[in-house]
Amino acid sequence: MHPEVDEILEYAFRKKLNYELLTNGLLPDKLFDVVKKYSVPRVYISLDGAKDTYINVRGIDGYDLVLRSIELIRNMTKISIIYTINPWNDQKDLDQIIGFCKERNLDLRIGIYNNMEFFDTTKRMHENDYEIETDVDISTFPENQEFLDLYKHWQNGDVLLPCYSIRQELVVYPNGDIPICQNKQIILGNLNERTLDDTIAAPDSIALQKEQKYCNGCWISFHRKFEVALFRGIRYIPKAIVRKILGDFTLPKYWNGQKRVLGPTEHNEERDTEFSRDAEKVI
Ligand SMILES: C[S@@+](CC[C@H](N)C(=O)[O-])C[C@H]1O[C@@H](n2cnc3c(N)ncnc32)[C@H](O)[C@@H]1O
Ligand code: SF4
Repeated sequence: MHPEVDEILEYAFRKKLNYELLTNGLLPDKLFDVVKKYSVPRVYISLDGAKDTYINVRGIDGYDLVLRSIELIRNMTKISIIYTINPWNDQKDLDQIIGFCKERNLDLRIGIYNNMEFFDTTKRMHENDYEIETDVDISTFPENQEFLDLYKHWQNGDVLLPCYSIRQELVVYPNGDIPICQNKQIILGNLNERTLDDTIAAPDSIALQKEQKYCNGCWISFHRKFEVALFRGIRYIPKAIVRKILGDFTLPKYWNGQKRVLGPTEHNEERDTEFSRDAEKVI
């Protein structure tokens, strides 16, 4: 947990901010204390697999501590388990975590490992033969399912969604730098020099966001679930109107924002070729 967790939460609590806490859950008693003291409305706890996998991924045997954290705060706040599909876990792990969450009626958020520079990742994702089994039923959070369903299509170049999350989902690094997104080292400003509001409203920042609108360069859940949810929400609006308002996009024809009935790879030939995927042309 962050060494200044108390100061940070105390500030958020006092200012009545809309805040949530992400944790690896390795300090159950400390977690219990801060959740109680600052009435933390939601806690995200990472759990990337069954016990053996957990040890392999995290490098320490903290699985039971995570479980204890969950039990301790279960009745005090909302909990979301974060499961990140990564090169070291597999379908059995995902099934186990889905079962674990269902049994305890916990919300589950699923992400996919990425090569964000800030995370110092060495193993590469997306461009290897690592297979993700997406045929899972995750009813608690529909964007999970769709986010996974669309992943292969995105890898194949059959999904293009304009990036609106960069205007909504902000990231601040520990040194105060504000990157345009988790994946790009384009720095919009630094909190030590300018406020967050001023940085975001700055003409340079807006110009950069416009420039990156059709980037489509990552499938990071923190960012791209925003677009998945956005396009899901407007799936009944005629495409021409959506294009006028939000810009060009490409989605597989079968995808209508509802539960998938066939596996994504079976649909590759059905991609929506009616529309240009050459985003540069439609900016
Ligand atoms: C950045 S962590 C922050 C919470 C906590 N400090 C922790 O260690 O889990 C939040 C989530 O990001 C996930 N994560 C870590 N490295 C990642 C990567 N390279 N790509 C995608 N997700 C990653 C973790 O699995 C975790 O569930
Ligand atoms: S799609 Fe591009 S601009 Fe948007 S979050 Fe991903 S890398 Fe950043």
